[in-house]
Amino acid sequence: MNPNLKPFEDILLKYLGNSKSPTLTAPVCTGRSELKAIASDVIQLSNLFTKERKILPSQYLNNKSLRRAYIIYFLPSNIYKIHLPLKELSLHPKKILSKKLLKILDLGSGPGTTILGILDFFSKQKKRPSLEFTAIDSVAENLTIAKDLFKLFAENINIDASLKTFKINIEKAGTIPQDTYDIIILSNILNELFYEDNKRIAKRVSFLNTIIDKFLTLDGSCIIIEPALRETTRGMLDVRDNLIKNGFNIYSPCLIDEPCPALLNPKDWCHEDIPWTPPVIIKEIDKLTGLRKDSLKFSYLVLRKDKLSLTDVLEKNSYRIVSEPLVSKGKLEFYICGIGGRRLITMLDKDKTPSNMQFQKLQRGDIVTFRDLIDRGNRFKIDKGTTVANLSSHIYKSPHLYI
Ligand SMILES: C[S@@+](CC[C@H](N)C(=O)[O-])C[C@H]1O[C@@H](n2cnc3c(N)ncnc32)[C@H](O)[C@@H]1O
Repeated sequence: MNPNLKPFEDILLKYLGNSKSPTLTAPVCTGRSELKAIASDVIQLSNLFTKERKILPSQYLNNKSLRRAYIIYFLPSNIYKIHLPLKELSLHPKKILSKKLLKILDLGSGPGTTILGILDFFSKQKKRPSLEFTAIDSVAENLTIAKDLFKLFAENINIDASLKTFKINIEKAGTIPQDTYDIIILSNILNELFYEDNKRIAKRVSFLNTIIDKFLTLDGSCIIIEPALRETTRGMLDVRDNLIKNGFNIYSPCLIDEPCPALLNPKDWCHEDIPWTPPVIIKEIDKLTGLRKDSLKFSYLVLRKDKLSLTDVLEKNSYRIVSEPLVSKGKLEFYICGIGGRRLITMLDKDKTPSNMQFQKLQRGDIVTFRDLIDRGNRFKIDKGTTVANLSSHIYKSPHLYI
């Protein structure tokens, strides 16, 4: 294995048949025209995922070139997105992920992206459960790739894991094989379900109700990951609010089980943005396309039937940072979300003290607590006497999350 590459990158290159030629690792030296062709497919796919979403064909990964573009450009970053929800689940004192055997259902698995991410996550744990994966997708070629990549990846790590695949249209939930699972994943697929239907949100809610009721163990977790786009994320948040009404519990990222405050303003949405160093090939494609994949952008939701929640591990009155730092002359602001909803929090530069200096270093997604915070109703203010503690800096920031 090439020691300069992360294991999966090495495996992807071998899989794509380029391990002998350096095309994908050093495209500057060779394979320029091939790289340009890949870049053009990446643009096409990126447009389909964003501004041309309305015409995204349901079987787009049936197209060989687009599939290759997906594997090279979108798969590497998507692999790591599952680490954050898994890390948050593993923090719970009830040791939710410490079973000897974890059965995992990946709906709309594509080329097995999330399955590779889960293998990667557990391969870095001291105690590794046996992992029994079931992957379902409507495109047979995706499942073939998923099986190939799974085999190559599992061979390289010391983990007991198996994979079954089924070619099924999951919109017909009745055709999904009967079993129960500790984890059910829907990664970058919820927004594709019932897309043409005017009642798509209601249909997705009813679909998830059925899936969770029928296929999730009583102590299981359903993890939904979506693109960080406004439309797709707001759709997921709408589904979230309906599922809460139906009695499901949000484990994370939300620290409140109230209606999502981001839905109040049609311009708002809520997502993660985790720093990430992409492989060389992605940097090269970015140079050609003008796209930027230098962080992991996604939104997510972990649902449970029981009442366990990330808030069980946190101090009361913890808040999640849900915006970028908003810097203006003489002050720094963020939006934070927690008890009381989503509010702006402001600190003037002149009020900086050792006890509140953590505020300067906060990032989107961090969980934070405050002492002696000034509550002005619709906003908070930090003054010289406020203490700011960033809980994420000691509970989250492991190499697993910030790659
Ligand atoms: C954007 S890809 C996501 C793949 C993978 N989960 C990931 O995160 O990289 C969406 C996948 O869902 C599959 N898909 C879309 N609609 C589906 C359906 N109704 N039934 C089964 N699979 C479906 C597509 O074939 C595609 O592989």
